Amino acid sequence: MTGFDADFRDRLWHLLRMRRDVRHFKTDPIPDDTLDLCLRSFSFAPSVGLSEPWRIVIVGSDAARAAARDNFRTANADALAGYSGDDARLYAGLKLSGMEQAPVHIAVWCDDTTTKGKGLGAGTMPEMRAYSCVSAVMQFWLALRSHGIGMGWVSILDPDRLAQDLTIPAGWRLIGYFCIGYPETEDDRPELEKVGWEKRQALPEMLNR
Ligand SMILES: Cc1cc2nc3c(=O)[nH]c(=O)nc-3n(C[C@H](O)[C@H](O)[C@H](O)COP(=O)(O)O)c2cc1C
Repeated sequence: MTGFDADFRDRLWHLLRMRRDVRHFKTDPIPDDTLDLCLRSFSFAPSVGLSEPWRIVIVGSDAARAAARDNFRTANADALAGYSGDDARLYAGLKLSGMEQAPVHIAVWCDDTTTKGKGLGAGTMPEMRAYSCVSAVMQFWLALRSHGIGMGWVSILDPDRLAQDLTIPAGWRLIGYFCIGYPETEDDRPELEKVGWEKRQALPEMLNR
């Protein structure tokens, strides 16, 4: 018995709608057992050849977090310099990381050197290992959200600099830096839509029939 009844589907739909990328966090800590439980969702994720190439680094020390924050500040300033006019004004006002407040920071890497899975499915498209990591992150994101916890994906970073600062083994590729904590607010609309940066597509715009 799966228990996937109509009530479950309604609630799952609600979870999907309320997921959100969060940049505004409360500083309240996350209970260790809840975080561990959510991290276990990685074990249920799909991966090419069952390679499970994700490597999860908890960024806990003040020094490592300061290095990541500085990395973000530099990359974000560089990104801003690439915009002009209204886009530049809007971009300058965006909050694109919750690194200052989030109580938990995690960096997820893809081990492109893994022999687990014996290369099955990744021969012609080695990027499938990174896609596997993204699939696992998505499950983790939803697991957190089901506990009322929010997550924000930070990609505005120099990955080589982060790898050096966190002493990451050669051959690991950055999937994302994730800020995790209880959200300050709940919303069913993406923040970037609310501030007028972009709009969500409706289904007909995505389908190429
Ligand atoms: C691969 C990836 C990278 C992202 N990088 C950033 C980022 O660096 N900073 C940020 O504020 N949001 C980042 N986001 C979040 C997106 O902006 C967000 O998912 C999108 O605006 C839709 O909002 P929603 O996630 O709340 O539905 C990233 C999302 C993904 C999937």
